[in-house]
Amino acid sequence: MTPITWPVRRDPHHMPQWRRDPCPVLLGDRIVRFRDPRDAHLPLPPFPAYAQPPRDLGPAPRGSMVEPRFARVGGRQTLLVPIRRGTSLYGTGEQPGPLRRNGTRRLIRTTDSVEYDEGVPALYQAHPWVLAVRDDGSAFGVIVETTYPCEVDLTRHIVFRFDPRMTGVPMPAATVIERDSPMAVLEALADLTGRMPLPPKWSLGFQQSRWSYEPASRVLDVCRTFRQRWLPCDVVWLDIDYMDGFRIFTFDPSKFADPAGLNRDLHAIGFRTVWMIDPGIKAEPGYRVYDAGAAGDHFVKDRAGAEYHGRVWPGACAFPDYTRASARAWWSALYTDFLSHGVDGVWNDMNEPAVFDQVWKMMPHDNQHEADADLGGPGDHLRYRNIYGMLMVRATREGIVAARPERRPFVLTRSNFLGGHRYAATWTGDNAASYTHMAWSISMILNLGLSGQPFCGPDIGGFIGETSPELFARWMGIGTLLPFARSHKVKGSLPHEPWTRGNECEHVSRLALERRYRLMPYLYTLFHESSLTGWPVARPLFFADPRDQRLRDAGDSFLLGDALLVRCELPERDGRGAAHRSPMPAGVWKRLEPTRETHRWLPELYLRGGSLVPAGPIMQHVDQHPTDPLTLYCALDADGSAVGRLYEDAGDGFAFQRGEFRLTTFLVHRSNGRLKVEETEAEGSLAAPRRTIEIVEL
Ligand code: GLC
Repeated sequence: MTPITWPVRRDPHHMPQWRRDPCPVLLGDRIVRFRDPRDAHLPLPPFPAYAQPPRDLGPAPRGSMVEPRFARVGGRQTLLVPIRRGTSLYGTGEQPGPLRRNGTRRLIRTTDSVEYDEGVPALYQAHPWVLAVRDDGSAFGVIVETTYPCEVDLTRHIVFRFDPRMTGVPMPAATVIERDSPMAVLEALADLTGRMPLPPKWSLGFQQSRWSYEPASRVLDVCRTFRQRWLPCDVVWLDIDYMDGFRIFTFDPSKFADPAGLNRDLHAIGFRTVWMIDPGIKAEPGYRVYDAGAAGDHFVKDRAGAEYHGRVWPGACAFPDYTRASARAWWSALYTDFLSHGVDGVWNDMNEPAVFDQVWKMMPHDNQHEADADLGGPGDHLRYRNIYGMLMVRATREGIVAARPERRPFVLTRSNFLGGHRYAATWTGDNAASYTHMAWSISMILNLGLSGQPFCGPDIGGFIGETSPELFARWMGIGTLLPFARSHKVKGSLPHEPWTRGNECEHVSRLALERRYRLMPYLYTLFHESSLTGWPVARPLFFADPRDQRLRDAGDSFLLGDALLVRCELPERDGRGAAHRSPMPAGVWKRLEPTRETHRWLPELYLRGGSLVPAGPIMQHVDQHPTDPLTLYCALDADGSAVGRLYEDAGDGFAFQRGEFRLTTFLVHRSNGRLKVEETEAEGSLAAPRRTIEIVEL
């Protein structure tokens, strides 16, 4: 399948008039906004990717920056950023296919694309953003300030083409961030789009899901079996079948008669629960959520101004118009009662939004949103579609915080927009049980991280189709080292708990899970770091040396933080050509195995020379035991020393914002033939815990 994109009409007699902005505006240090001079007199529409509207700091110094050009080409507004040879392109959000995006054309439009491949035009999320890394390792990023769908064409240069139906609005502005390294670009992106709030520690644990575990007794059975078989796991997920006839904010009276009791029983064995809430509200007078939404006039309208109905799981549904603060406040308030049943986290799905009986499952583009002025005022669905999911999870998150201010919220979303990491974690939607999709679960997570979303992962094992024991075990090996680690499966498929695929698969899965839990102190430290800096948790290999061209394509290995390298073997079994293994970055990298043994199906782990990573004991869930003993795995440098950090706090709640945390810098060095550990720095008011520290030199 070739990508479906808008046709470009080429007229040989009409050369596009490319214009540059003669007076671009400075938004920050080497951050410049460029506009089409033909439209510069028009006010810029608000751009909700930004955490705050950036301040205009006056005219930008000329000459040193990448300069976008603007034109109408084939009747379409078009923006071009020329690139030099040797420039590698990344980002563009959630895209299937290889890590390096040069040569690709995709739509930036939120689309429900089940069992996707590279031929579908777009996936669930929309990030009008490209990260470019030059041959000398310096980098720049381009933010295209529009909520409208657009095409990103990286076949030669960076080209954005805007939807031909987008009329009467100015050409979108392009903001360019120029820095010396890709890491620094991402830091500046986070200055503009905000940072991921520190999630509760339990959401970093392993998570087991299925469409659907039902009834309640089955949920408990699955979780008890995890405990009996010593398979670490923190979270179980409740998909749509817990609801009463797919009515959101209800519970099936027979299958889930006592959700509070179920949550209590699960909490007692160290499980948290995440429950699904979709945006579609069954259009059924008498159903309290629908009645209240209709009475409050909170729903999206059709072009004639009547309440729009489209089919989703429960049949005809109305859709909240999250572009209005009043609708968001109403939506937020629905969570108070829902959470009172002991629900720990919320899963917002189908929020592209997906409507079954429409082409590409999209509601009509001329549906109407009554958006508030701070989003740009009333407008059609074409304008607001890409941010629908982001606004939904913003309201969900606000509702959870209001209902339970003492705990950190956890929201997972399928659809989102640039900047939406401020509200929710994400997963890569309805992937398939294939080796190709397993490979993409690395490249997609890396590109999401390079688009500002650090908290993401795939459906481990593949959502659609049956998973062989080897594929399952290998995917557990990789998926448990990605930031969000959840296994999930479509309805009607074989069971997919780790013990259902034979002994070898269960054994490898256990080792994979034990690795994640051993490395949890390091992982939590990386999440904390990301919440302050915007750096991805999982990073492409070329971050180890942005000048090394050999690493630019490496999509089968990745870095966790800057110290740990995960080298995966991705056998090619889907007939798409031979597998290859990425080269290693230069320098010293020492093999690390944090569990008692490894297996040929598991990725290899390497620690960078001069680094140390903190590890804890194996636990069945993150808060089962204190981190004692604390193990420091060290790869000493030529001077015989290694440095690393450990972040610790209560794991939930907001006391850390008042200083109740401990961020320790450890230095291990060899002196007189013996290894010594020193705490060279400690931030935060928590005292150093009394515990055993063991040093393992690699
Ligand atoms: C969508 C989701 C999937 C979920 C299913 C039923 O396909 O992507 O994860 O299981 O809906 O709710």
